[in-house]
Amino acid sequence: MKVKHFAIAALAVAFAMSSAAAMAAEKDPIPARAPASAKGDKNPVASNAASVEQGKQLFQDIGCNGCHGDGGNGQGPASAGMEPSPRNFTNGAWQAARADGELKYTIFHGADGTAMIANEAMFEDPADVWHVVNFIRSLKK
Ligand code: HEC
Repeated sequence: MKVKHFAIAALAVAFAMSSAAAMAAEKDPIPARAPASAKGDKNPVASNAASVEQGKQLFQDIGCNGCHGDGGNGQGPASAGMEPSPRNFTNGAWQAARADGELKYTIFHGADGTAMIANEAMFEDPADVWHVVNFIRSLKK
């Protein structure tokens, strides 16, 4: 029994390693993507279950999940081979390094030289971006 379990574990490790190899790396996630002034753009929407749910809907309706994944781990179906890879929102160190206004800035204006394009025009009501920010915050592991 023990040997069999070991064999299964070894297979799982081999699979995890091969899928990790197919994944492109994130560009160092910690340095800011937005100008320093974006930090002063304060989130006026308190985070609660309704806001997070609205943000999740927008995230899926706009198609952010195609790259970032439903759970925000950066491994959505369109992310294969993407260089740099989409941000992993579950990363606590990255979450801690960002102000809400910086997230809004990048969502609206994109990140130069990456697949993260400007999405401001996708929002019927630009203020709804704060719900998406609250959803992204809820993904921290
Ligand atoms: C075509 C793929 C793609 C789509 C669609 C996409 N993103 Fe991204 N996103 C990326 C990539 C790639 C990065 C990493 C950019 C970098 O390293 O600078 C990124 C980075 C980010 C970041 C992190 C910026 C930072 O400060 O570190 C946020 C927040 C973000 N995306 C939110 C969104 C939201 C919200 C949507 C939908 C409105 C979205 N993205 C749609 C590819 C995508």
